Amino acid sequence: MAVLITGGAGYIGTHTCVELLNDGYEIIVVDNFSNSQPESLRRVKELTGREFKTYAIDLLDAQSLERVFTENLISSVVHFAGLKAVGESVADPLWYYRNNVIGTIILCEVMKKFQVKNIVFSSSATVYGQPDQVPIRENALLKTTNPYGRTKHMIEEILRDLYISDSSWSVALLRYFNPIGAHKSGMIGESPKGIPNNLLPYISQVAVGSLDELRVFGNDYETKDGTGVRDYIHVVDLAIGHVRALEKIESSDGVHTYNLGTGKGYSVLEMVDTFEETSGKSIPYTILGRRPGDIPICFAETTKANVELGWRAERGIDEMCEDTWRWQSLNPNGYEQSNTESETSVPSKAADFFVTK
Ligand code: NAD
Ligand code: WQD
Repeated sequence: MAVLITGGAGYIGTHTCVELLNDGYEIIVVDNFSNSQPESLRRVKELTGREFKTYAIDLLDAQSLERVFTENLISSVVHFAGLKAVGESVADPLWYYRNNVIGTIILCEVMKKFQVKNIVFSSSATVYGQPDQVPIRENALLKTTNPYGRTKHMIEEILRDLYISDSSWSVALLRYFNPIGAHKSGMIGESPKGIPNNLLPYISQVAVGSLDELRVFGNDYETKDGTGVRDYIHVVDLAIGHVRALEKIESSDGVHTYNLGTGKGYSVLEMVDTFEETSGKSIPYTILGRRPGDIPICFAETTKANVELGWRAERGIDEMCEDTWRWQSLNPNGYEQSNTESETSVPSKAADFFVTK
């Protein structure tokens, strides 16, 4: 039996593939490579010494997805595939609703057809919008403020309804806070296309010299130093959270919702200071006005995941910055540069459909 990983070539997906493979799981990856490259999966194989099949297909292509379920014995699905840029979702909401919501409906229809009823879903702290209080508990009001966040909220509701219709489904809704960092090896990490939107990828591209300076969005919030505060979580801790969540849903039915964060908040300027200390690079910055849609402060209450999953984030911000820097300095252009050097047998993403092992 294998675990199907949708969006497995992406940032969080690759790190979760590594943890699952190291734990002895068989995996199969489905990805359309719209925001990733086959090179990331070649490196997962190199890192773990394990082989797995990869299908280059789009979740919206139900026929090809059915083929994956026909050709393989699948026990559970970890569902990462989705678009994730807030600004892009405001500019083109239909694209986001189609890709994320319809993509998930098609996935669930195929799962239902093949009687596969275990799913771990990548939700996001963005479903909470501006929280009434911090730390945020799982039962806080959901009042997300943008189309991307609404796709996550809608998918959560769809999965809840699915369970109500058939109680043999088992669902984990994982609400990630702010994932950063990279695998210790420096071989896999976050490789955003174009200019990054998120803080740590931006800082690390300033450190490596690809960008001139950081723009700090607002220093007049009611926070410790006026800049926005977030709960940054190491991507490897997050990946391990998925392994625990998979164990949970494989042993019990129901819909289980968990915050995956550290429970601690750090400001933008604290992140800049820590990154400078760990990398030895200076990060010049300018203070600008607030970014529309930003909230002042956000961090998780993590007791539920601690108790029910036996999981806790263990890596602190020094390690998160160190690992981000190792990845960025070894791969200044992310996965881009290595395509021509790569010995990967994975065909180009232009192919409509391929399987490789
Ligand atoms: P990512 O873009 O690196 O990975 C997503 C992967 O899904 C990519 O490889 C992309 O090519 C693939 N994909 C997208 N649409 C697809 C489709 N229709 N069919 C097949 N493949 C498709 O993003 P990530 O940071 O690894 O995020 C993974 C998941 O976690 C996403 O659902 C995202 O919304 C969610 N999430 C991310 C963050 C974050 O800050 N990174 C925070 C909260 C939640
Ligand atoms: C963090 C802090 C910014 C960039 C976003 C999505 C959310 C989730 C994670 C998926 C804020 C400040 C940032 C910069 C800055 N993704 N900042 N200069 O906004 O908490 O969350 O990514 O689910 O949905 O909204 O993360 O990293 O963009 O920002 O000053 O160039 O850094 O204002 O205070 P955010 P972020």
